[in-house]
Amino acid sequence: MPTRTALVTGASAGIGASFARHLASQGYDLLLVARRAERLEALAAQLRAEYDVRCAVFAADLSDPAAPAAITDHAAAEGIDIDILVNNAGLSGKTAFAETPWDTLAAEIQLMVTAVTELSHRVVPGMKQRGWGRIVNLSSLAAFSPPGASLLYTGVKSYVLNISQSLDMELKPHGIHVTALCPGFTHSEFHDVMGTRDEANNLPGLLWQQPDDVVREGWQAVMNGKPVCVPGTVNKVVAAAMRPIPTRVGYYLGGRLNPFKDA
Ligand SMILES: NC(=O)c1ccc[n+]([C@@H]2O[C@H](COP(=O)([O-])OP(=O)(O)OC[C@H]3O[C@@H](n4cnc5c(N)ncnc54)[C@H](OP(=O)(O)O)[C@@H]3O)[C@@H](O)[C@H]2O)c1
Repeated sequence: MPTRTALVTGASAGIGASFARHLASQGYDLLLVARRAERLEALAAQLRAEYDVRCAVFAADLSDPAAPAAITDHAAAEGIDIDILVNNAGLSGKTAFAETPWDTLAAEIQLMVTAVTELSHRVVPGMKQRGWGRIVNLSSLAAFSPPGASLLYTGVKSYVLNISQSLDMELKPHGIHVTALCPGFTHSEFHDVMGTRDEANNLPGLLWQQPDDVVREGWQAVMNGKPVCVPGTVNKVVAAAMRPIPTRVGYYLGGRLNPFKDA
């Protein structure tokens, strides 16, 4: 059987870099995508040397509507079949909706909603033809938690949680499984990019996970065909506690508990 190839977006840092390392350690070839090409090249060189896998790099800004087509066209031109798609690239804004320029909000939606959906749509026909595929979409514990005031993030990650389950239902008869991976607070560059490092540092240590732990549990869920994975015991308890609460209570809690509402 030919070696399978995984496309990992947002592989230049955090959970995406950890996914790239984990998949290389399992013998998968890789196509790594993010904006910072030099980081991708350095990681690719390391993974080729350590695990003897093929590791291609393609620098792209996924907030550019042309990026998903550019990535899959590049893969096709290089003769790379995408068997595994890890839709991981993401970030969160922290400024109030009404104060944020539309271009910034549109870029977030393009990156975490449209690109996630379009990349899936572009790779599924090949997966169907080959009768095997795995798609991992990075959602978040935020998709289960009360809505965070002013942020698009909860809505975006709720979309990812829902669409992943719908796609899994549609595609599993074709040998394709789709998993929404929903981490809680994870050590990465996420809060530096968001500008909430100080607030994040004040949160209790038991709420935090390492990216490698998120990825190990997430990949196990993918291989077991689970449509949703909330990694870590504490996160599972939080998700379970949040699910049955009435909408009005969730709305109230979202306003009270959002640790970044004043950031
Ligand atoms: N950390 C957490 O607490 C947490 C919790 C739940 C869910 N998540 C989700 O997990 C995923 C990974 O986050 P992380 O924690 O690993 O954050 P991170 O360390 O900041 O990594 C984010 C990755 O996304 C890439 N990226 C961001 N904007 C991009 C763009 N416009 N085009 C292409 N790539 C882009 C970044 O690469 P470049 O900057 O090089 O482009 C980087 O590789 C995200 O979807 C996030 O929402 C994170």
